[in-house]
Amino acid sequence: MRPAHALSSVLAVIFLFACSTAEEQQESAPPEATYLMDPHSHARPNEAVITHLDLDIRVDMDNRRIEGVAAYKLQAPHADQVVFDTDGPEVTRVQDASGKDLEFTVGEETGFGRALTVRLPAGCDSVRIHYRTGAETAALQWLGPRQTAGGKSPFLYTQGQAILTRTWIPIQDSPGIRITYNARVQVPAGLMAVMSASNPRERSADGLYSFRMEQPIPAYLIALAVGDFTFQELGPRTGVYAEPVTLEKAAWEFADMERMLTEAEELYGPYRWERYDVIVLPPSFPYGGMENPRITFATPTIIAGDRSLTALIAHELAHSWSGNLVTNATWDDFWLNEGFTVYFEKRISERIFGEEYARMLDQLGYQDLLHTVEKIDAGVHPEDTRLKLSLAGRDPDEGTSEIAYEKGYAFLRVLEEKVGRAKFDAFLRRYFETFAFQSMTTERFLTYLDEQLLKPEGVVVDVQQWVYSPGLPKDLIIPAAEGFVLVDEQLVRLKNGTPAKQLNTKDWVTFQWIHFVRHLPKPLSPAMMKDLDAAFGFTATGNMEVLAAWLEQCVAYNYAPAKPRLKEFLTTVGRRKFLTPLYEGLMATPEGKETARVIYAEARPLYHAVAVKRIDEVLGWKGSDPVMF
Ligand code: BES
Ligand code: ZN
Repeated sequence: MRPAHALSSVLAVIFLFACSTAEEQQESAPPEATYLMDPHSHARPNEAVITHLDLDIRVDMDNRRIEGVAAYKLQAPHADQVVFDTDGPEVTRVQDASGKDLEFTVGEETGFGRALTVRLPAGCDSVRIHYRTGAETAALQWLGPRQTAGGKSPFLYTQGQAILTRTWIPIQDSPGIRITYNARVQVPAGLMAVMSASNPRERSADGLYSFRMEQPIPAYLIALAVGDFTFQELGPRTGVYAEPVTLEKAAWEFADMERMLTEAEELYGPYRWERYDVIVLPPSFPYGGMENPRITFATPTIIAGDRSLTALIAHELAHSWSGNLVTNATWDDFWLNEGFTVYFEKRISERIFGEEYARMLDQLGYQDLLHTVEKIDAGVHPEDTRLKLSLAGRDPDEGTSEIAYEKGYAFLRVLEEKVGRAKFDAFLRRYFETFAFQSMTTERFLTYLDEQLLKPEGVVVDVQQWVYSPGLPKDLIIPAAEGFVLVDEQLVRLKNGTPAKQLNTKDWVTFQWIHFVRHLPKPLSPAMMKDLDAAFGFTATGNMEVLAAWLEQCVAYNYAPAKPRLKEFLTTVGRRKFLTPLYEGLMATPEGKETARVIYAEARPLYHAVAVKRIDEVLGWKGSDPVMF
């Protein structure tokens, strides 16, 4: 990413207070500054802000292009211009509601796209932007039939978070700006389409679909998927979309979804989005899950056949409160989305899968946290271990580390411990209700926390240190899981020479296997790896979390028999969390480097742009590299 210049001209601001109606504003003085600066958006919402989008697009799966009109309603009582974010789309024409052409300019590349500035004649409160996507559309991943489970139809999905929606729709792309939207989407007849909105259950005969999102959401939560998938109901408010060959397995795996929803509501108040569905995407999806409102986008790698990895669904569901309802005001406040969601995810998981499951989840998260702090401390941005980030001038994607998740969680755990669960739950419930459909800054949350919880309870927590200092505070609660004590005992036996087959692993669950594989004795000899593999079948496992942990070991110790499986994994699965440590591991040795180059040359076109960007860095891959197709 290029350095962001002209930052001072970028005054995107964040909507903080419930706004008066347009009529009221017309009559009164200009609205007070109600938005704060967002360093990753060109929009100037204090002058003119979008409130509703009518999207009318055609999706051309053959030529991998989207073309159409994004029509916006504006609140711009006194503005003579409105500024949008755009990063890739070619804007061909801008009109007002009556079809009159409006003047527009497209600014310089700033490091986070370009400003699209439209002149507004007096009284103009809507604009129609005609556009088509360009060659670079980081949000979109177009898949050929071979990259799908069914193998017959192409597939498209979008990924908006953090600042990618602007690559397929010109929009005010700041998490502090919310809009409702309607969409008309034309796809090739025979294919299905879903969005983060009201969704069809059946295919339309002509490939035309209509969507409505009536709750205001930020741009990063606009999402679209197109492909050969069908729907199956799971409960009154829940269901799953997946390719026909995957649907049954997915429905079995996610059978707890309806209960997750009711448990979540019992914890933190009513679900405000009507339905909660999940779509299982092809394996190239770069994340485990993405909390698009009403329809979580999920990786198929959580389908393990035993429901052991579905805490991820609890996580994405929890975002329906923390993130989608109360939204981080800027990407510097990302921990407000993810830390709260990890806390919430664990509370749901505890209710569905039991205390021990949740404690093991805690432990694994804590291990991730220690690892992340160590890694960030050794890097060029050691300040990134602070909860409140300073990402101005950088790609916000760089801030999406485990810190927001696990340190954020650890902070909330400390608060819970200090005031007790009942009081903390009541506080959170009130927080979600009070700030529903608004954005939240770290500072505003801390004020609310102080006033509503810490002061009334007479509790002292070093909030400043937790939020603004790097590293891990001393009062962090180190989680313990009994299930892992059993694993540790077997690890000791293994280290002392007990053959793998003789270890006592009866009734171990997935998390115990992950803990086991992560903590295998160092170094591992080829004979020992063979012995482990023969006893437990790691290389052949269908559990992708266990497999990924095992392949990390195989890479670290250059275990030849796992090479074909490693290659197969890296050329089908695009989940960035798995790819990064595997490629990093490969890059640590000369033979590994060569393997990484060969595999990546084949795999790169199969990954989503956000994974490509990260792995390019890991490999030092240059755009001009001759192996690049
Ligand atoms: N919202 C995130 C995914 C994300 C974060 C996308 C930042 C783009 C930028 C999602 O809710 C998430 O956290 N997914 C995790 C799963 C979770 C169980 C920790 C993932 O993808 O692994
Ligand atoms: Zn999340």
